[in-house]
Order: sequence, then C-alpha cells, then structure tokens
Amino acid sequence: MSTVHGDGTTAAGNGIRCVRLTKRFSDVVAVDDLSFDAPMGAVTGFVGANGAGKTTTMRMLLGLVQPTSGEALIDGRWLRDIPNPRLTVGTVLDSPGAHPGHTARAYLGILARASGVPQRRIAEVLDMVGLGDSAQRRVGAFSLGMKQRLSLAAGLLGDPRIIMLDEPTKGLDPPGMLWLRGLLRDLAAEGRCVFLSSHHLAELDAIADHVVVLHKGRLIAKGGLSELMSRRGRAVVVRSAHNGVLEQLVRGRGGSSSVDPNGGLRVVGLTAPEVGELALAGGVAVHHLSEERAELEDIFLELTASAEDKALERVR
Ligand SMILES: Nc1ncnc2c1ncn2[C@@H]1O[C@H](COP(=O)(O)OP(=O)(O)OP(=O)(O)O)[C@@H](O)[C@H]1O
Ligand SMILES: [Mg+2]
Repeated sequence: MSTVHGDGTTAAGNGIRCVRLTKRFSDVVAVDDLSFDAPMGAVTGFVGANGAGKTTTMRMLLGLVQPTSGEALIDGRWLRDIPNPRLTVGTVLDSPGAHPGHTARAYLGILARASGVPQRRIAEVLDMVGLGDSAQRRVGAFSLGMKQRLSLAAGLLGDPRIIMLDEPTKGLDPPGMLWLRGLLRDLAAEGRCVFLSSHHLAELDAIADHVVVLHKGRLIAKGGLSELMSRRGRAVVVRSAHNGVLEQLVRGRGGSSSVDPNGGLRVVGLTAPEVGELALAGGVAVHHLSEERAELEDIFLELTASAEDKALERVR
C-alpha cells in the first residue's frame, strides 16, 4: 500500500513497542516489567481493570510520564526524538483539551496551525467523526459522546500512522460504538497501528486483532483475540440466596466467580456437578444451575484469578 502519511512517509513503520517498561510512583508499581508490540496494520487492544496501569503506559509512550526503567517506543523511537509528533502519532486521552467557549472548528484550527496541518484537513476530520454539521457549535454545549468524537478528530488531524486511544468508547451510545469500531478497523486496514485501551475484554470483540492483558501493572496474556476466544471453555451459572458463601467455596476449590447480571454467580474453572456438590457440602440450597459457553469476560476473570494465585505463591 502506498498511503502517504501525515509525516510525509509511505513506509509501514514500526508501530508501538514497550520493552521491560517499569514505572514506580513511590510505593506503587504502576507498570511492572512490561514488554509487548502493537504492530502496524492491526488493532491492538490494551485490557486491564481499574488501576492496571493502562493510562500510565500510554503516558510514558507519549513522553508525559518519565519511566523508571525500560523503553517506550513509537515507530522505533522515543517520542522526544520525533519531530512534530502529531504527524506520526494521534492520541485520544482522557480529557479533551478544548476550551468550552471555542467552536469545534476553532479548536481544531488552533491545533492545525500549531503543527503545520493545512486548514482544509479540519473539515475532513470533522466529517470523518460525524461532526460535520456541528463545526460552528461551541464545545461547551457538546454531549459526552460529541466530545469523544472531537477528541478523535483532534487525534486524526495530522493524518498519523499510529493512533493511540485511552478508553475511547466512554460516553458513546451503541450506534456510536458500532461506528467507532468501523472507523478503527478502516484505519488499521489502511496500514496504521491502532492501539486502544478498555476495561472490558468483551468490548474488544470484533475490534481488536491482538490483545495485551495487564493486571496490576504486569502482563498476564498477549496474542490474537481469536486464539483467546477459541480457548474458552464453559461457565457455570448458579443462583442461591448465599452468593458470598458460594464465592468462598468456589475460590477454595480453585475456581473463580463474578456476579452475573441476573444476580447469580458465574463460575469458571469448575464444572456444574462440582459446583452443585460444593453447594450441597456447604449447606447452600441451589435455586438454579446451568452451564453456558464462556464469554470473553469469563476468560479475563480466569486470567486475573490465576495471576493472583501466582502472586500469592511468590509471596509465600
Ligand atoms: N501520578 C501518579 N501518582 C501516583 N500514583 C499514580 C499516578 N498515576 C497513576 N498512579 C497509580 O498507578 C496505578 C495505575 O494507574 P493507571 O491510571 O495507569 O491505571 P489504568 O489502567 O489506566 O486504570 P483506569 O482503568 O482506572 O483508567 C494506580 O494504582 C494509580 O493509582
Ligand atoms: Mg486509565
């Protein structure tokens, strides 16, 4: 493919690379010896619970946080060594920087001037994110979803070949999520590196080709999302009046559980007969017991639970 990128290059480039990346904030190890690649031409999902270290990793890649050790490289270089980085990497981070009194167009105009992007690109990116009709409206009156779209427009302004998004689905309604999924897939299909974080492994289904799973700053899994999905086994759904007791029994037997949207427990790592017998032995009356195909969220739970077990072994 011979797409000419914002920085004038046509080369495929190197995507994102972290090598033994570590960040300590006094007594908290936010990112712990993390190594992974997010290649060009693919969407890579960066998954972890609250506080796992996703934002800190992205901030190190962007030169906003100084790593304690290791490397955080964009296109094979530290961000500080990239001239006019907005043309190489586009970012959508937590807080859109637009002044509420500015119109969308004025805000993007300021950014475009600062990085030498032609003004005609503004209308292009506003159309790409579906804000073409709101160009002259004040950002202060934008809904959360519109602000997310504006952040995305700002990120895409320099036609970057690497796009990094921290929780971009926040504030988007279901059609908005579907739209974002399509846009990110198109950007990757053009040969770009798309790297996005999420709390939910399931949310990355149909978006990400690869995932990097983080738990308390450490890498616990990486690879193709389809391989991860093909590994899924069964989950057991159990309802009773004593979730707390059952949770403890399940954990004692090496399984893990989460609360089901219907108020029951979803158990992974044990079979339905095992769960039934555990309940009987624990004196818990079971109201419902069934087996279901495990969802991506169950796999995430299993991965984090086994990482916890390994951490405990290290402590002992
Ligand atoms: N500036 C800071 N000073 C001290 N601790 C910090 C700082 N920034 C992050 N941390 C800590 O580092 C850990 C990782 O935080 P981080 O924001 O990277 O997680 P996250 O995966 O992005 O979480 P979330 O899903 O909630 O956004 C947390 O324990 C957090 O409290
Ligand atoms: Mg975060």
